[in-house]
Amino acid sequence: MHEKTLYIETVGCQMNLLDSELVVAALRKKGYRLVDAPKKADVILFNTCSVRQHAEDKIYSALGRLKHAKKHNPQKIIGVLGCMAQKDQKLIFQRAPFVDLIVGPGQLHRVPELIEEIQRTAGASVPRMEVSLDRSGGSRDEVESSFESYDPLRDPEMRPSPYQAFLRIMIGCDKFCTYCIVPSVRGPEQSRPPQHILTEAKRLASEGCREITLLGQTVNSYRHRTAGETTRLSDLLNQLHEIEGIDRIRFITNYPKDMTRDLLEAVRDLPKVCRYLHVPLQSGSDRMLKRMKRSYTVGEYREMLACIRETLPDASVTSDFIVGFSGETEEDYQQTVDFVKEARFKNSFIFKYSPRQGTKGFELYEDDVPDEIKRKRNNDLLAVQNAISEEDNQPFIGQEVEILVEGPSKKQAKRPSEQTEPLQLTGRTTCDRIVVFDGSKRQIGQILPVRIYDANGFTLFGSVVTHHVGPEVYSLA
Ligand code: 5AD
Ligand code: SF4
Repeated sequence: MHEKTLYIETVGCQMNLLDSELVVAALRKKGYRLVDAPKKADVILFNTCSVRQHAEDKIYSALGRLKHAKKHNPQKIIGVLGCMAQKDQKLIFQRAPFVDLIVGPGQLHRVPELIEEIQRTAGASVPRMEVSLDRSGGSRDEVESSFESYDPLRDPEMRPSPYQAFLRIMIGCDKFCTYCIVPSVRGPEQSRPPQHILTEAKRLASEGCREITLLGQTVNSYRHRTAGETTRLSDLLNQLHEIEGIDRIRFITNYPKDMTRDLLEAVRDLPKVCRYLHVPLQSGSDRMLKRMKRSYTVGEYREMLACIRETLPDASVTSDFIVGFSGETEEDYQQTVDFVKEARFKNSFIFKYSPRQGTKGFELYEDDVPDEIKRKRNNDLLAVQNAISEEDNQPFIGQEVEILVEGPSKKQAKRPSEQTEPLQLTGRTTCDRIVVFDGSKRQIGQILPVRIYDANGFTLFGSVVTHHVGPEVYSLA
């Protein structure tokens, strides 16, 4: 029998990485093998992102490059999954008529069956599209049930690391920030029942997973009600903390307004919960925050940050920023720079505003900041942040930190032929700092003490603290 092959390309956030992992696992059950190039594949899938125009352009040009491959081999199945599938829907067929399959993020469970259908009707070349309802396409219940949380039990072999896993605790978003397409492409906010989350976490632990990262667009808004009882993220953390085998729990991404005291106290009191909080501020100007409909002021964010620093003095806090949002003046931008200097985030992700059709921002406001100004603000803010990141990493020099060893460093991974030990490995501290050190393959998946001897803005460099200091450690491998 001809072995079926699959190529998948993923852009976007951790939700997308998890979705791709699950789609691949489902197709492997159907006999597919992953390959590393589209030309080797019977089925080519793109799991897409719509948060910024650039991410969409990348996919449309990748699709353009496949036009000839499809002409050459009409049996090849080309599919577009995820947020852009939900946002552009039939438009994708218009721009790339050779696409066979379009599946939104709320319908991913249907991918294997849809591929089979297309194969059965080969020759008739009937394209298939499965997307969820638009936010105004039915009652809240109807729209909600058209978005299904896609969380089948996974094939442990398919996880990128056996020791780490993403675990979705909610889908969708109801905040409707004016720049953001997520509430329309990922649908209404829905929290998964705690029992489902606990069962999945226990199963991951039994497969050897030591670190779970809970995912939600606004993960700290998690709230599940059954039989008069409400479970919040703090409750969930307490329950997950009991699971033997799970040593670390992370959660991303947080909404500032929902950063409640009970949550911070849960993080403080539960040693397995990592000292790392990603809480995007987006802008340091109240005028911009209002236009973005972020529902908090800079002053309120400052208070929240003070509360984090008081409750969790050793936690690192990171943020996202959008520069060049509609109407952003030099003064607004300067307020963002000032706040970044004041807040001393561990790091910040900075984006140029990209207007998204289907958002309130697109409808109401003109994209009036020229691209070169956006670019300059982006670069300048990044430079300010990077200098802070570098300064704040210096005190780690000479300190001992604990890391979960994840695998070969990026540099080592680029030289797969050079496998002689010591290997350059990488791991992360509880506060999400990347540590690079020389070690042995056997250490992957372990939680180890490392002494830091150097640091830049992105990485700490260290060596494992061991009683067997010296090269004989490595000869044990
Ligand atoms: N343009 C630029 N950045 C955006 N983000 C969300 N929507 C847009 C947009 N239209 C950024 C926000 C968010 C991160 C995931 O992406 O900063 O926190
Ligand atoms: Fe988008 Fe705002 Fe929801 Fe985040 S909170 S996903 S930025 S709408």
